[in-house]
Amino acid sequence: MPLAFITGGGGGLGSETALRAHELGWDVAIFDLSRDRAAQVLEKLPDAHFFEGDVTDEASAVAALDALDRVPDLLVNNAGIVKFQPLLDTSTEDFARMISINLTGAFTMARLFAERMIKRGSGSIINITSTGGIATSPGTNAYASAKRGLAAMTEIMALEWGPLGLRINSVAPGMIHGGMSSGIYDDPSVAERRSKGVPLRRLGTERDIAHAVMWLASDEASYVNGHELVVDGGMTKAAMAMIPR
Ligand SMILES: NC(=O)c1ccc[n+]([C@@H]2O[C@H](COP(=O)([O-])OP(=O)(O)OC[C@H]3O[C@@H](n4cnc5c(N)ncnc54)[C@H](O)[C@@H]3O)[C@@H](O)[C@H]2O)c1
Repeated sequence: MPLAFITGGGGGLGSETALRAHELGWDVAIFDLSRDRAAQVLEKLPDAHFFEGDVTDEASAVAALDALDRVPDLLVNNAGIVKFQPLLDTSTEDFARMISINLTGAFTMARLFAERMIKRGSGSIINITSTGGIATSPGTNAYASAKRGLAAMTEIMALEWGPLGLRINSVAPGMIHGGMSSGIYDDPSVAERRSKGVPLRRLGTERDIAHAVMWLASDEASYVNGHELVVDGGMTKAAMAMIPR
């Protein structure tokens, strides 16, 4: 069975991706800051590997890779944090922390996995970006900067590692009712208002993202490389529709 390694796999989108991978017959390894964070998904997937680690701590990633009996077939670079604030209120330390987890951490993980996947001659890496990096808005700050950077890095990886047998793509979730955005929608009127700006007239679900990730990871996507798959119900295409005529 192929093995999927999911960073931030205890969170909303990561857990759902782990569950989808399992449904499709994959073995699953979850890498997250603490076992507590992954408790719910580990209860549902008792056979999953779990590794406590931090994407900004290279040694913890190497330890996880060394503990596995084989090189994973798929890395989902999903771990991420968000903090929205105006640029003028942002310290250099805050900015650097956001970049360090969302962008540098993804790079470190990808390089460590790619070194091993290239030796085998196959593998797939999927970086979770965000429509925040495509259609920026005030306050999105280092998060949007990191995500746009991650989309660019995906393309560079695809160019450099494609010839060595790897496929590298990204998935950009739009407005998702789940994961780090759950709190935004505690007030149902927010979900209702926001849905009106989406051509499909609904928010996305964690499941929508898990399906997209696992399709990209599948052989059905075997000729897809360097692509950013936007899963947003058409939201980022709706800019002109929002401009008064
Ligand atoms: N939920 C959304 O609306 C949305 C939209 C666009 C993009 N995304 C992206 O999807 C990904 C998953 O987000 P989510 O919504 O599931 O959030 P979440 O907060 O539910 O999950 C994130 C997970 O990452 C883990 N994590 C954080 N820092 C880490 C680190 N340094 N090392 C290892 N693990 C770490 C957390 O413990 C958590 O389990 C993120 O990259 C996020 O930017 C989410």
